[in-house]
Order: sequence, then C-alpha cells, then structure tokens
Amino acid sequence: MKATTVKPAEGKLGILVVGNGAVATTFMTGVFMARKGLAKPVGSMTQYDKMRVGKGADKQYLHYADIVPMASLDDIVFGTWDVYPQNAFQSAMYAEVLKEKDILPVKDELEQVVPMKAAFDKNFAKRLDGDNVKDCKTRWEMVEALRQDIRQFKAEHDCARIVVLWAASTEIYVPVNMEVHDTMAHLEEAMKANDTKNIAPSMCYAYAALAEGAPFIMGAPNTTVDIPAMWEMAEKTKMPIAGKDFKTGQTLVKSGFSPILGTRCLGLSGWFSTNILGNRDGLVLDEPDNFRTKEVSKLSTLETILKPEDQPDLYTDYYHKVRINYYPPRNDNKEGWDNIDIFGWMGYPMQIKINFLCRDSILAAPLCLDLCLLSDLAARAGRYGIQRFLSFFLKSPMHDYTKNEEAVNHLYQQYTMLKNAIREMGGYEADEEID
Ligand SMILES: NC(=O)c1ccc[n+]([C@@H]2O[C@H](COP(=O)([O-])OP(=O)(O)OC[C@H]3O[C@@H](n4cnc5c(N)ncnc54)[C@H](O)[C@@H]3O)[C@@H](O)[C@H]2O)c1
Repeated sequence: MKATTVKPAEGKLGILVVGNGAVATTFMTGVFMARKGLAKPVGSMTQYDKMRVGKGADKQYLHYADIVPMASLDDIVFGTWDVYPQNAFQSAMYAEVLKEKDILPVKDELEQVVPMKAAFDKNFAKRLDGDNVKDCKTRWEMVEALRQDIRQFKAEHDCARIVVLWAASTEIYVPVNMEVHDTMAHLEEAMKANDTKNIAPSMCYAYAALAEGAPFIMGAPNTTVDIPAMWEMAEKTKMPIAGKDFKTGQTLVKSGFSPILGTRCLGLSGWFSTNILGNRDGLVLDEPDNFRTKEVSKLSTLETILKPEDQPDLYTDYYHKVRINYYPPRNDNKEGWDNIDIFGWMGYPMQIKINFLCRDSILAAPLCLDLCLLSDLAARAGRYGIQRFLSFFLKSPMHDYTKNEEAVNHLYQQYTMLKNAIREMGGYEADEEID
C-alpha cells in the first residue's frame, strides 16, 4: 500500500442499524455467512471492485483494501434499534427474504442482535404498532437516551469505532423549514421544546450519532441529515454524513440507462415507472404521507441527467411519473416496470420497456455494507460533512442546495467520484478517466 494519511482500521467496528427489518437482517445475515465462508457478498464494491490507480507504466488494478486501510468483515459487530422486540434471527425469518438454509447456520450470531428500544413516534409511521419504544417526553430526551445507548454498546462490545446506519421505515415527509433546520442552535432549541412537527425521530438518531463521534448514513429518503443544521453538526464534530435512500432497483436502472439517451442525443417524451411490492416497507409506503417522501426522492433522478436547459429540443417537458403499489403476495420480491417513450431522427417516436424482477433487500444489503465501511474510512481519513463520493449508492444524493450545488445522479459520473475519492485517500492523484 502506498503511503496514506488515513488512520489504520484497528479494532472492532460497531455497526448500529436503526431498524431490524428486511434490509437490516439480510445485511447482517450475509455478513455472518460470508465470514464463515458460506456465502459470497455479491454486489459489494468494497469486497469485489478493482480500480485503476496510477497511469501508463505505473498503472495497477487494485481492490479498495489494497489502496486504503479498510475494516474487514471480521471486524464488524452489529447492534440495532427497533419498534419490535424480536431479535435479528426472528426478524430475518419473519422477513422471508432469505431461505431458512441461509439463515440457520448463523442463528447464534443473529440471536445475539437484540433491538434496543426505538426512538419512535407513531405519527411518523402510522402503520407500525410495536411497543419496544423509549418512553421520552421530548425529542431532546430521545437524543440523550440514544447517546447513552451508543456509549453503552461501544463499551460493552469493546468497539474502537461506531457507524450508525438508518435502515428503518420511511418516515412521513418533513419539508425543510429554514426557521428550525437552518442552524444547530435552532435545531437544538426545537428538540428541547419538543417540536414534534419539525423534528423527526430520525433526526434524534443522527444528532446522537454525530454527538458520539459516529458517521451517520440515511438509507431511506427521510429529510433527517439533509438540512444545514446537520451539516453544521457534522462539521463541528468532524464526522461524515451520507444520504439519502439506497439506490437499489428501479432508480439504479434509471440512472444507468438514461445516460444512453443523453449520450446519443435521443429525445425523451415520457418515463413511467411503476412497482409492486409486498413487504413491510411496501405497507408503510402505502400511506400517502410516507409515499410522498419516496416520490420526491425517486423523481429527482432524471432531472439532473437529462436537462431541458442543456438540450431544449430533446428534454423539455417530458412526463415523469413514479408509482409504488402495495401488493402482499410478492413480499420482498419487487417487480418494476419502466415504460420509456423516446424519439429519434425527425422526431419519430419509439418505446423501451424494462421489466425488473428484483429482490429489494438482496440489492440493498451490499449497499449497507459499502456505505458503512466507506463512511468509516472517510472518518479515519479526516473527511467530514456530506460525502458526495457516496452518491453512487444513493437515489437522492445529498448536496448543499443552499449554495445551488446540484446532485450528481448519473451513475458513471458517480462511479468516477467514488474512485477518485479512494484514489485521493490512498495517496494517488484523482483523474477523470472512466476506468
Ligand atoms: N430494499 C430496498 O431496495 C430499499 C431501497 C431504498 C430504501 N430502502 C429503505 O430502507 C428502509 C428499510 O426497508 P425494509 O424493507 O428493511 O423495511 P422493514 O419494514 O422490513 O424494516 C424497517 C424496520 O424499521 C423499524 N422502524 C421504523 N421506525 C423506527 C424507528 N424510529 N426506530 C427504530 N426502528 C424503526 C420497523 O419497525 C421495521 O422493523 C425503508 O425505509 C426503505 O424505504 C429500501
């Protein structure tokens, strides 16, 4: 490994997952199984990808762990919070994402992951009714209780570092309110005054994580860390933050496919995306206020890739619609349809249809692993605030909208950003080349 200023990944890495549902338990089971050599962590960039460093005669293709010091799967210790008290084994069985034969060999490990009481407010996810919930009078009390949980977990499991990952349900839409979400001082005031409208429970997790010196990753489309007050907090605590919303199925396809139209200068008149999904995530998203959060996140992708201002003949007023329908028989096996109406030479119309029969949590699990390991890397490299290099993994990548920054949604530009960040942390020069 070349000389790098990144601190070594010594000791155990505690990964505290908010939510112990389908995604979280698929992630944990896969890590435990891979550790025993019983399954492969397919889809994980940190475990598989090789990237070029150096140029010309000096060029080499290396795994990330050969470029920068990365925590290994053996270093990970899992903890979780959930509204339901079932341990990770029971919850993995309930989720029915994985077959019993892929869960039973790590039953003991999963049974040890018992959810701590959740910081929860039913108004933010009306369809959940578990009672493993903290009894807090204010949002500030939630923060304090969560901080205590993190400290206790770290000490009990002898962890050198902690990362907090939100893989809990999507909350109702919380619009950015610049009277509350603009500064840390205002945010803290609102937490202490128990402003339950503007302060979502997820914000308490994020605040607690950062205050305890842990990076925070938002895997749902929640507003949470996507506000200036949290950016200030991340800066003050020198901690990385990333979000929002794992880029798994349809949006992955969209951000990888739409560059085909853009690079060949083909026109777009409409893109209709619809999904059926039958797991608990689908149930929560069946509530209009919760779906609104997801819709905002899913819609943002195309606008920054196919821009009307760059190509008015090709991309003005295309109709973009995203639907998610709750359909229990399919459980976690989501089916997505994309109908894309395009036009070519002299405006002649054509259609493209994409039918993706995916498995939601199978696609999300490797992203959980990569986001946790790369956030831990970023913290050791002294990088803090919004980690734009992690946009590759996210549907609605965070960016400083108060400075008119634009999100990068184009999958291949995001990949270049990811590789360049790793090159830089590894002591190599960042460059523009795509390989
Ligand atoms: N699977 C994917 O492809 C994908 C992609 C993008 C985003 N996501 C997001 O990931 C999240 C998890 O998805 P899932 O399929 O595992 O859902 P899930 O319903 O199986 O699990 C979510 C868990 O979070 C718990 N929870 C809710 N609020 C909580 C709180 N305040 N504190 C602690 N626990 C809480 C719920 O009780 C539930 O057990 C969802 O928000 C989903 O939108 C998933």
